[in-house]
Amino acid sequence: MNEVVLPPDDGVEQLCSRLRIDRADRESTLAARPDPGEHPELWRVLERSYQVLLAQLGRRVPGNPAWAPLPAATGAVGRHLFVWVFLAVVPHVRDYHATIGLTDRESWDSLGALGEELELSRRLTGRAGLDATWGLPLVFSGTSFRLGRLAFERQPPGDDNAWNTHVPGDRTPLTSAACDASFARAMELAEQCGGHVDGFVCHSWLMDDQLQRYLPTTSNIIRFQQRFTRFTDRVKADWAPIEHVFHRRFDGDDVPPSLLDELPQRTTLERAVVTHLRYGGHWYNRTGWMRRRRTPVRHAPRLSL
Ligand SMILES: CC(C)(COP(=O)(O)OP(=O)(O)OC[C@H]1O[C@@H](n2cnc3c(N)ncnc32)[C@H](O)[C@@H]1OP(=O)(O)O)[C@@H](O)C(=O)NCCC(=O)NCCS
Repeated sequence: MNEVVLPPDDGVEQLCSRLRIDRADRESTLAARPDPGEHPELWRVLERSYQVLLAQLGRRVPGNPAWAPLPAATGAVGRHLFVWVFLAVVPHVRDYHATIGLTDRESWDSLGALGEELELSRRLTGRAGLDATWGLPLVFSGTSFRLGRLAFERQPPGDDNAWNTHVPGDRTPLTSAACDASFARAMELAEQCGGHVDGFVCHSWLMDDQLQRYLPTTSNIIRFQQRFTRFTDRVKADWAPIEHVFHRRFDGDDVPPSLLDELPQRTTLERAVVTHLRYGGHWYNRTGWMRRRRTPVRHAPRLSL
């Protein structure tokens, strides 16, 4: 069984810049280094979580529940424990990425999800460290990766052979050209490993067709949405644009009017989100499905992708 080896402080500094971890999050992580002698129970959680990721490396298991935050009483070390798990697993997931043919840049870009999530979590909660995380265990077990503008996640065996599509919120425009390149790369990667992708799904507030009432047809969001043809589910999710556009959270099901009053109204999307809610509307997460033509396998050893 692999023992957990945490990187030394100077190694963490280097890793953090590769993983796009902001200075504030870097400092709070270093200040919350877990120690087996001082934090024996947390250390056991760390070892267990590390072993789980190694056991799942490259295997998208069904279910995959979010990793819940540790109890508040575990303090800063508890809020950063999973950050240390992810840092410790980096060499293994990097090796796995190389095996399936991700480029060095794609590999680091994928793992950069840690920096993005730490920053988002700090903005949303006002505290350093991680909250519940669903996406990061997938990234650090090598089953979710970023290919250019978009990120993808493989489905568990037995499901449709459609990859899940994510739109990272780094504010670079979602241009059609960038999306074309990402989808093409995803199919190429699947073929490279002797497999194929039948299609792509996207479960997001970006799939809500009500956005078409507010955004021009030339908008990147509308163009992205229109790539998907079959839509299922429709789950009320006012929280989604509030979190993803404004980086704010609220308690309960409905957005408090006082919060709407505070939100900036600089862009068409910001105005759309707020106006729609003010007039009693709601936003929905929907699942869009896009079929891709199956392309012949050109080469490559069979790897289980
Ligand atoms: C998806 C995303 C990259 C699209 O940005 P984009 O390429 O600029 O999108 P569009 O061309 O459709 O933008 C249309 C309008 O909305 C504005 N807009 C788009 N995204 C915005 C955002 N996150 N915050 C504020 N305004 C935004 C644009 O500035 C533009 O308004 P303007 O013409 O008044 O300037 C961006 O919305 C984003 O980063 N979202 C967060 C990520 C996310 O929600 N992912 C899905 C998670 S489930």
